[in-house]
Amino acid sequence: MEPLLVVEHFSVQYQRMDRPAVDDVSLSLNPGQVLGVVGESGCGKTTLIKGILGFFPHCVAGVAGSVRLEGKELLGLPDKERRNLLGTSMDVIAQDSGTSLNPMKRIGKQFSQILGEKLGLSYQSSMIYARELLARVNCPKELLNRFPFQLSGGQRQRVLIALAFALRPKLLLADEPTSALDVTVQGQVLRELELLRRDCKSAILLISHNLGAVSRIADQVAVMYQGQVVEYGETHQVMDTPSHPYTKGLIACVPSLSLPKSQRLYNIPQGGKEWEGGCRFASRCPERIPDCQRQAPQLRPGKKGGLVACHCCG
Ligand SMILES: Nc1ncnc2c1ncn2[C@@H]1O[C@H](COP(=O)(O)OP(=O)(O)O)[C@@H](O)[C@H]1O
Ligand SMILES: [Mg+2]
Repeated sequence: MEPLLVVEHFSVQYQRMDRPAVDDVSLSLNPGQVLGVVGESGCGKTTLIKGILGFFPHCVAGVAGSVRLEGKELLGLPDKERRNLLGTSMDVIAQDSGTSLNPMKRIGKQFSQILGEKLGLSYQSSMIYARELLARVNCPKELLNRFPFQLSGGQRQRVLIALAFALRPKLLLADEPTSALDVTVQGQVLRELELLRRDCKSAILLISHNLGAVSRIADQVAVMYQGQVVEYGETHQVMDTPSHPYTKGLIACVPSLSLPKSQRLYNIPQGGKEWEGGCRFASRCPERIPDCQRQAPQLRPGKKGGLVACHCCG
């Protein structure tokens, strides 16, 4: 049977960009699974999420490939059908939760509208349910009377997670759900995402540049570099025995308090010149061999398991 989400050879090209922001990406997700997508800022993570959602602003010049949810092709789906999928089939928690909530409406009003439209609840039932949902994510019921700007970042993320608990989406797209939050709140939000997966069997595509967050809840990890997936495998394998030099660099960049001060901060070297072909990471790669600048490596099974796109590690 086909997985819940299948993304195949998916590319998104913005106008005036010399290469696609998402470039020939393939990945899949089974029900109840968490796939972490990591990579530095600008590597195409948000564009991937927007692409799966079918949100293509005017500045998008071209889209190719296939995105299927439960076997249904999403690319080219009419807007109305796509809107019907939102909420119960797929839901999104955006990087800046402020933009996912309507700034002009109180939280209670937004709950009653969404629960009314998607679950057919009356105003009164939706308010009772909203209070339960807020309690579930440790938010006081008083939030229902407030506007989104009157909530902290962590409260806004939890309001969105509370809504997801109600809608039980088969797929939750979470774009950096914890990056605007302080460390203790980050932990709470991650715990709530774990509960959502456990109790609602939601599959989660978790985008993050926080490797700690991803390794905590993801079953599998895809590492993106300049629009492409360069390593893809089980979380423990990618995190404990990474193959790609970029993945190794990302992991080395996580500061460790147990190391001596002089070794705590590692930086991946910056690239010298513009990419001229071959592997996109070559100019920054400490392990490069002559082949790397000649030919683009394909994603293929690596020696340590998973998939890796690299000439020098394999
Ligand atoms: N609306 C847009 N118009 C043109 N270029 C964009 C737009 N949004 C993102 N980009 C470019 O696409 C690339 C990927 O961006 P993005 O998907 O936001 O990356 P990430 O989420 O990993 O930081 C970047 O080079 C960014 O500058
Ligand atoms: Mg982003």
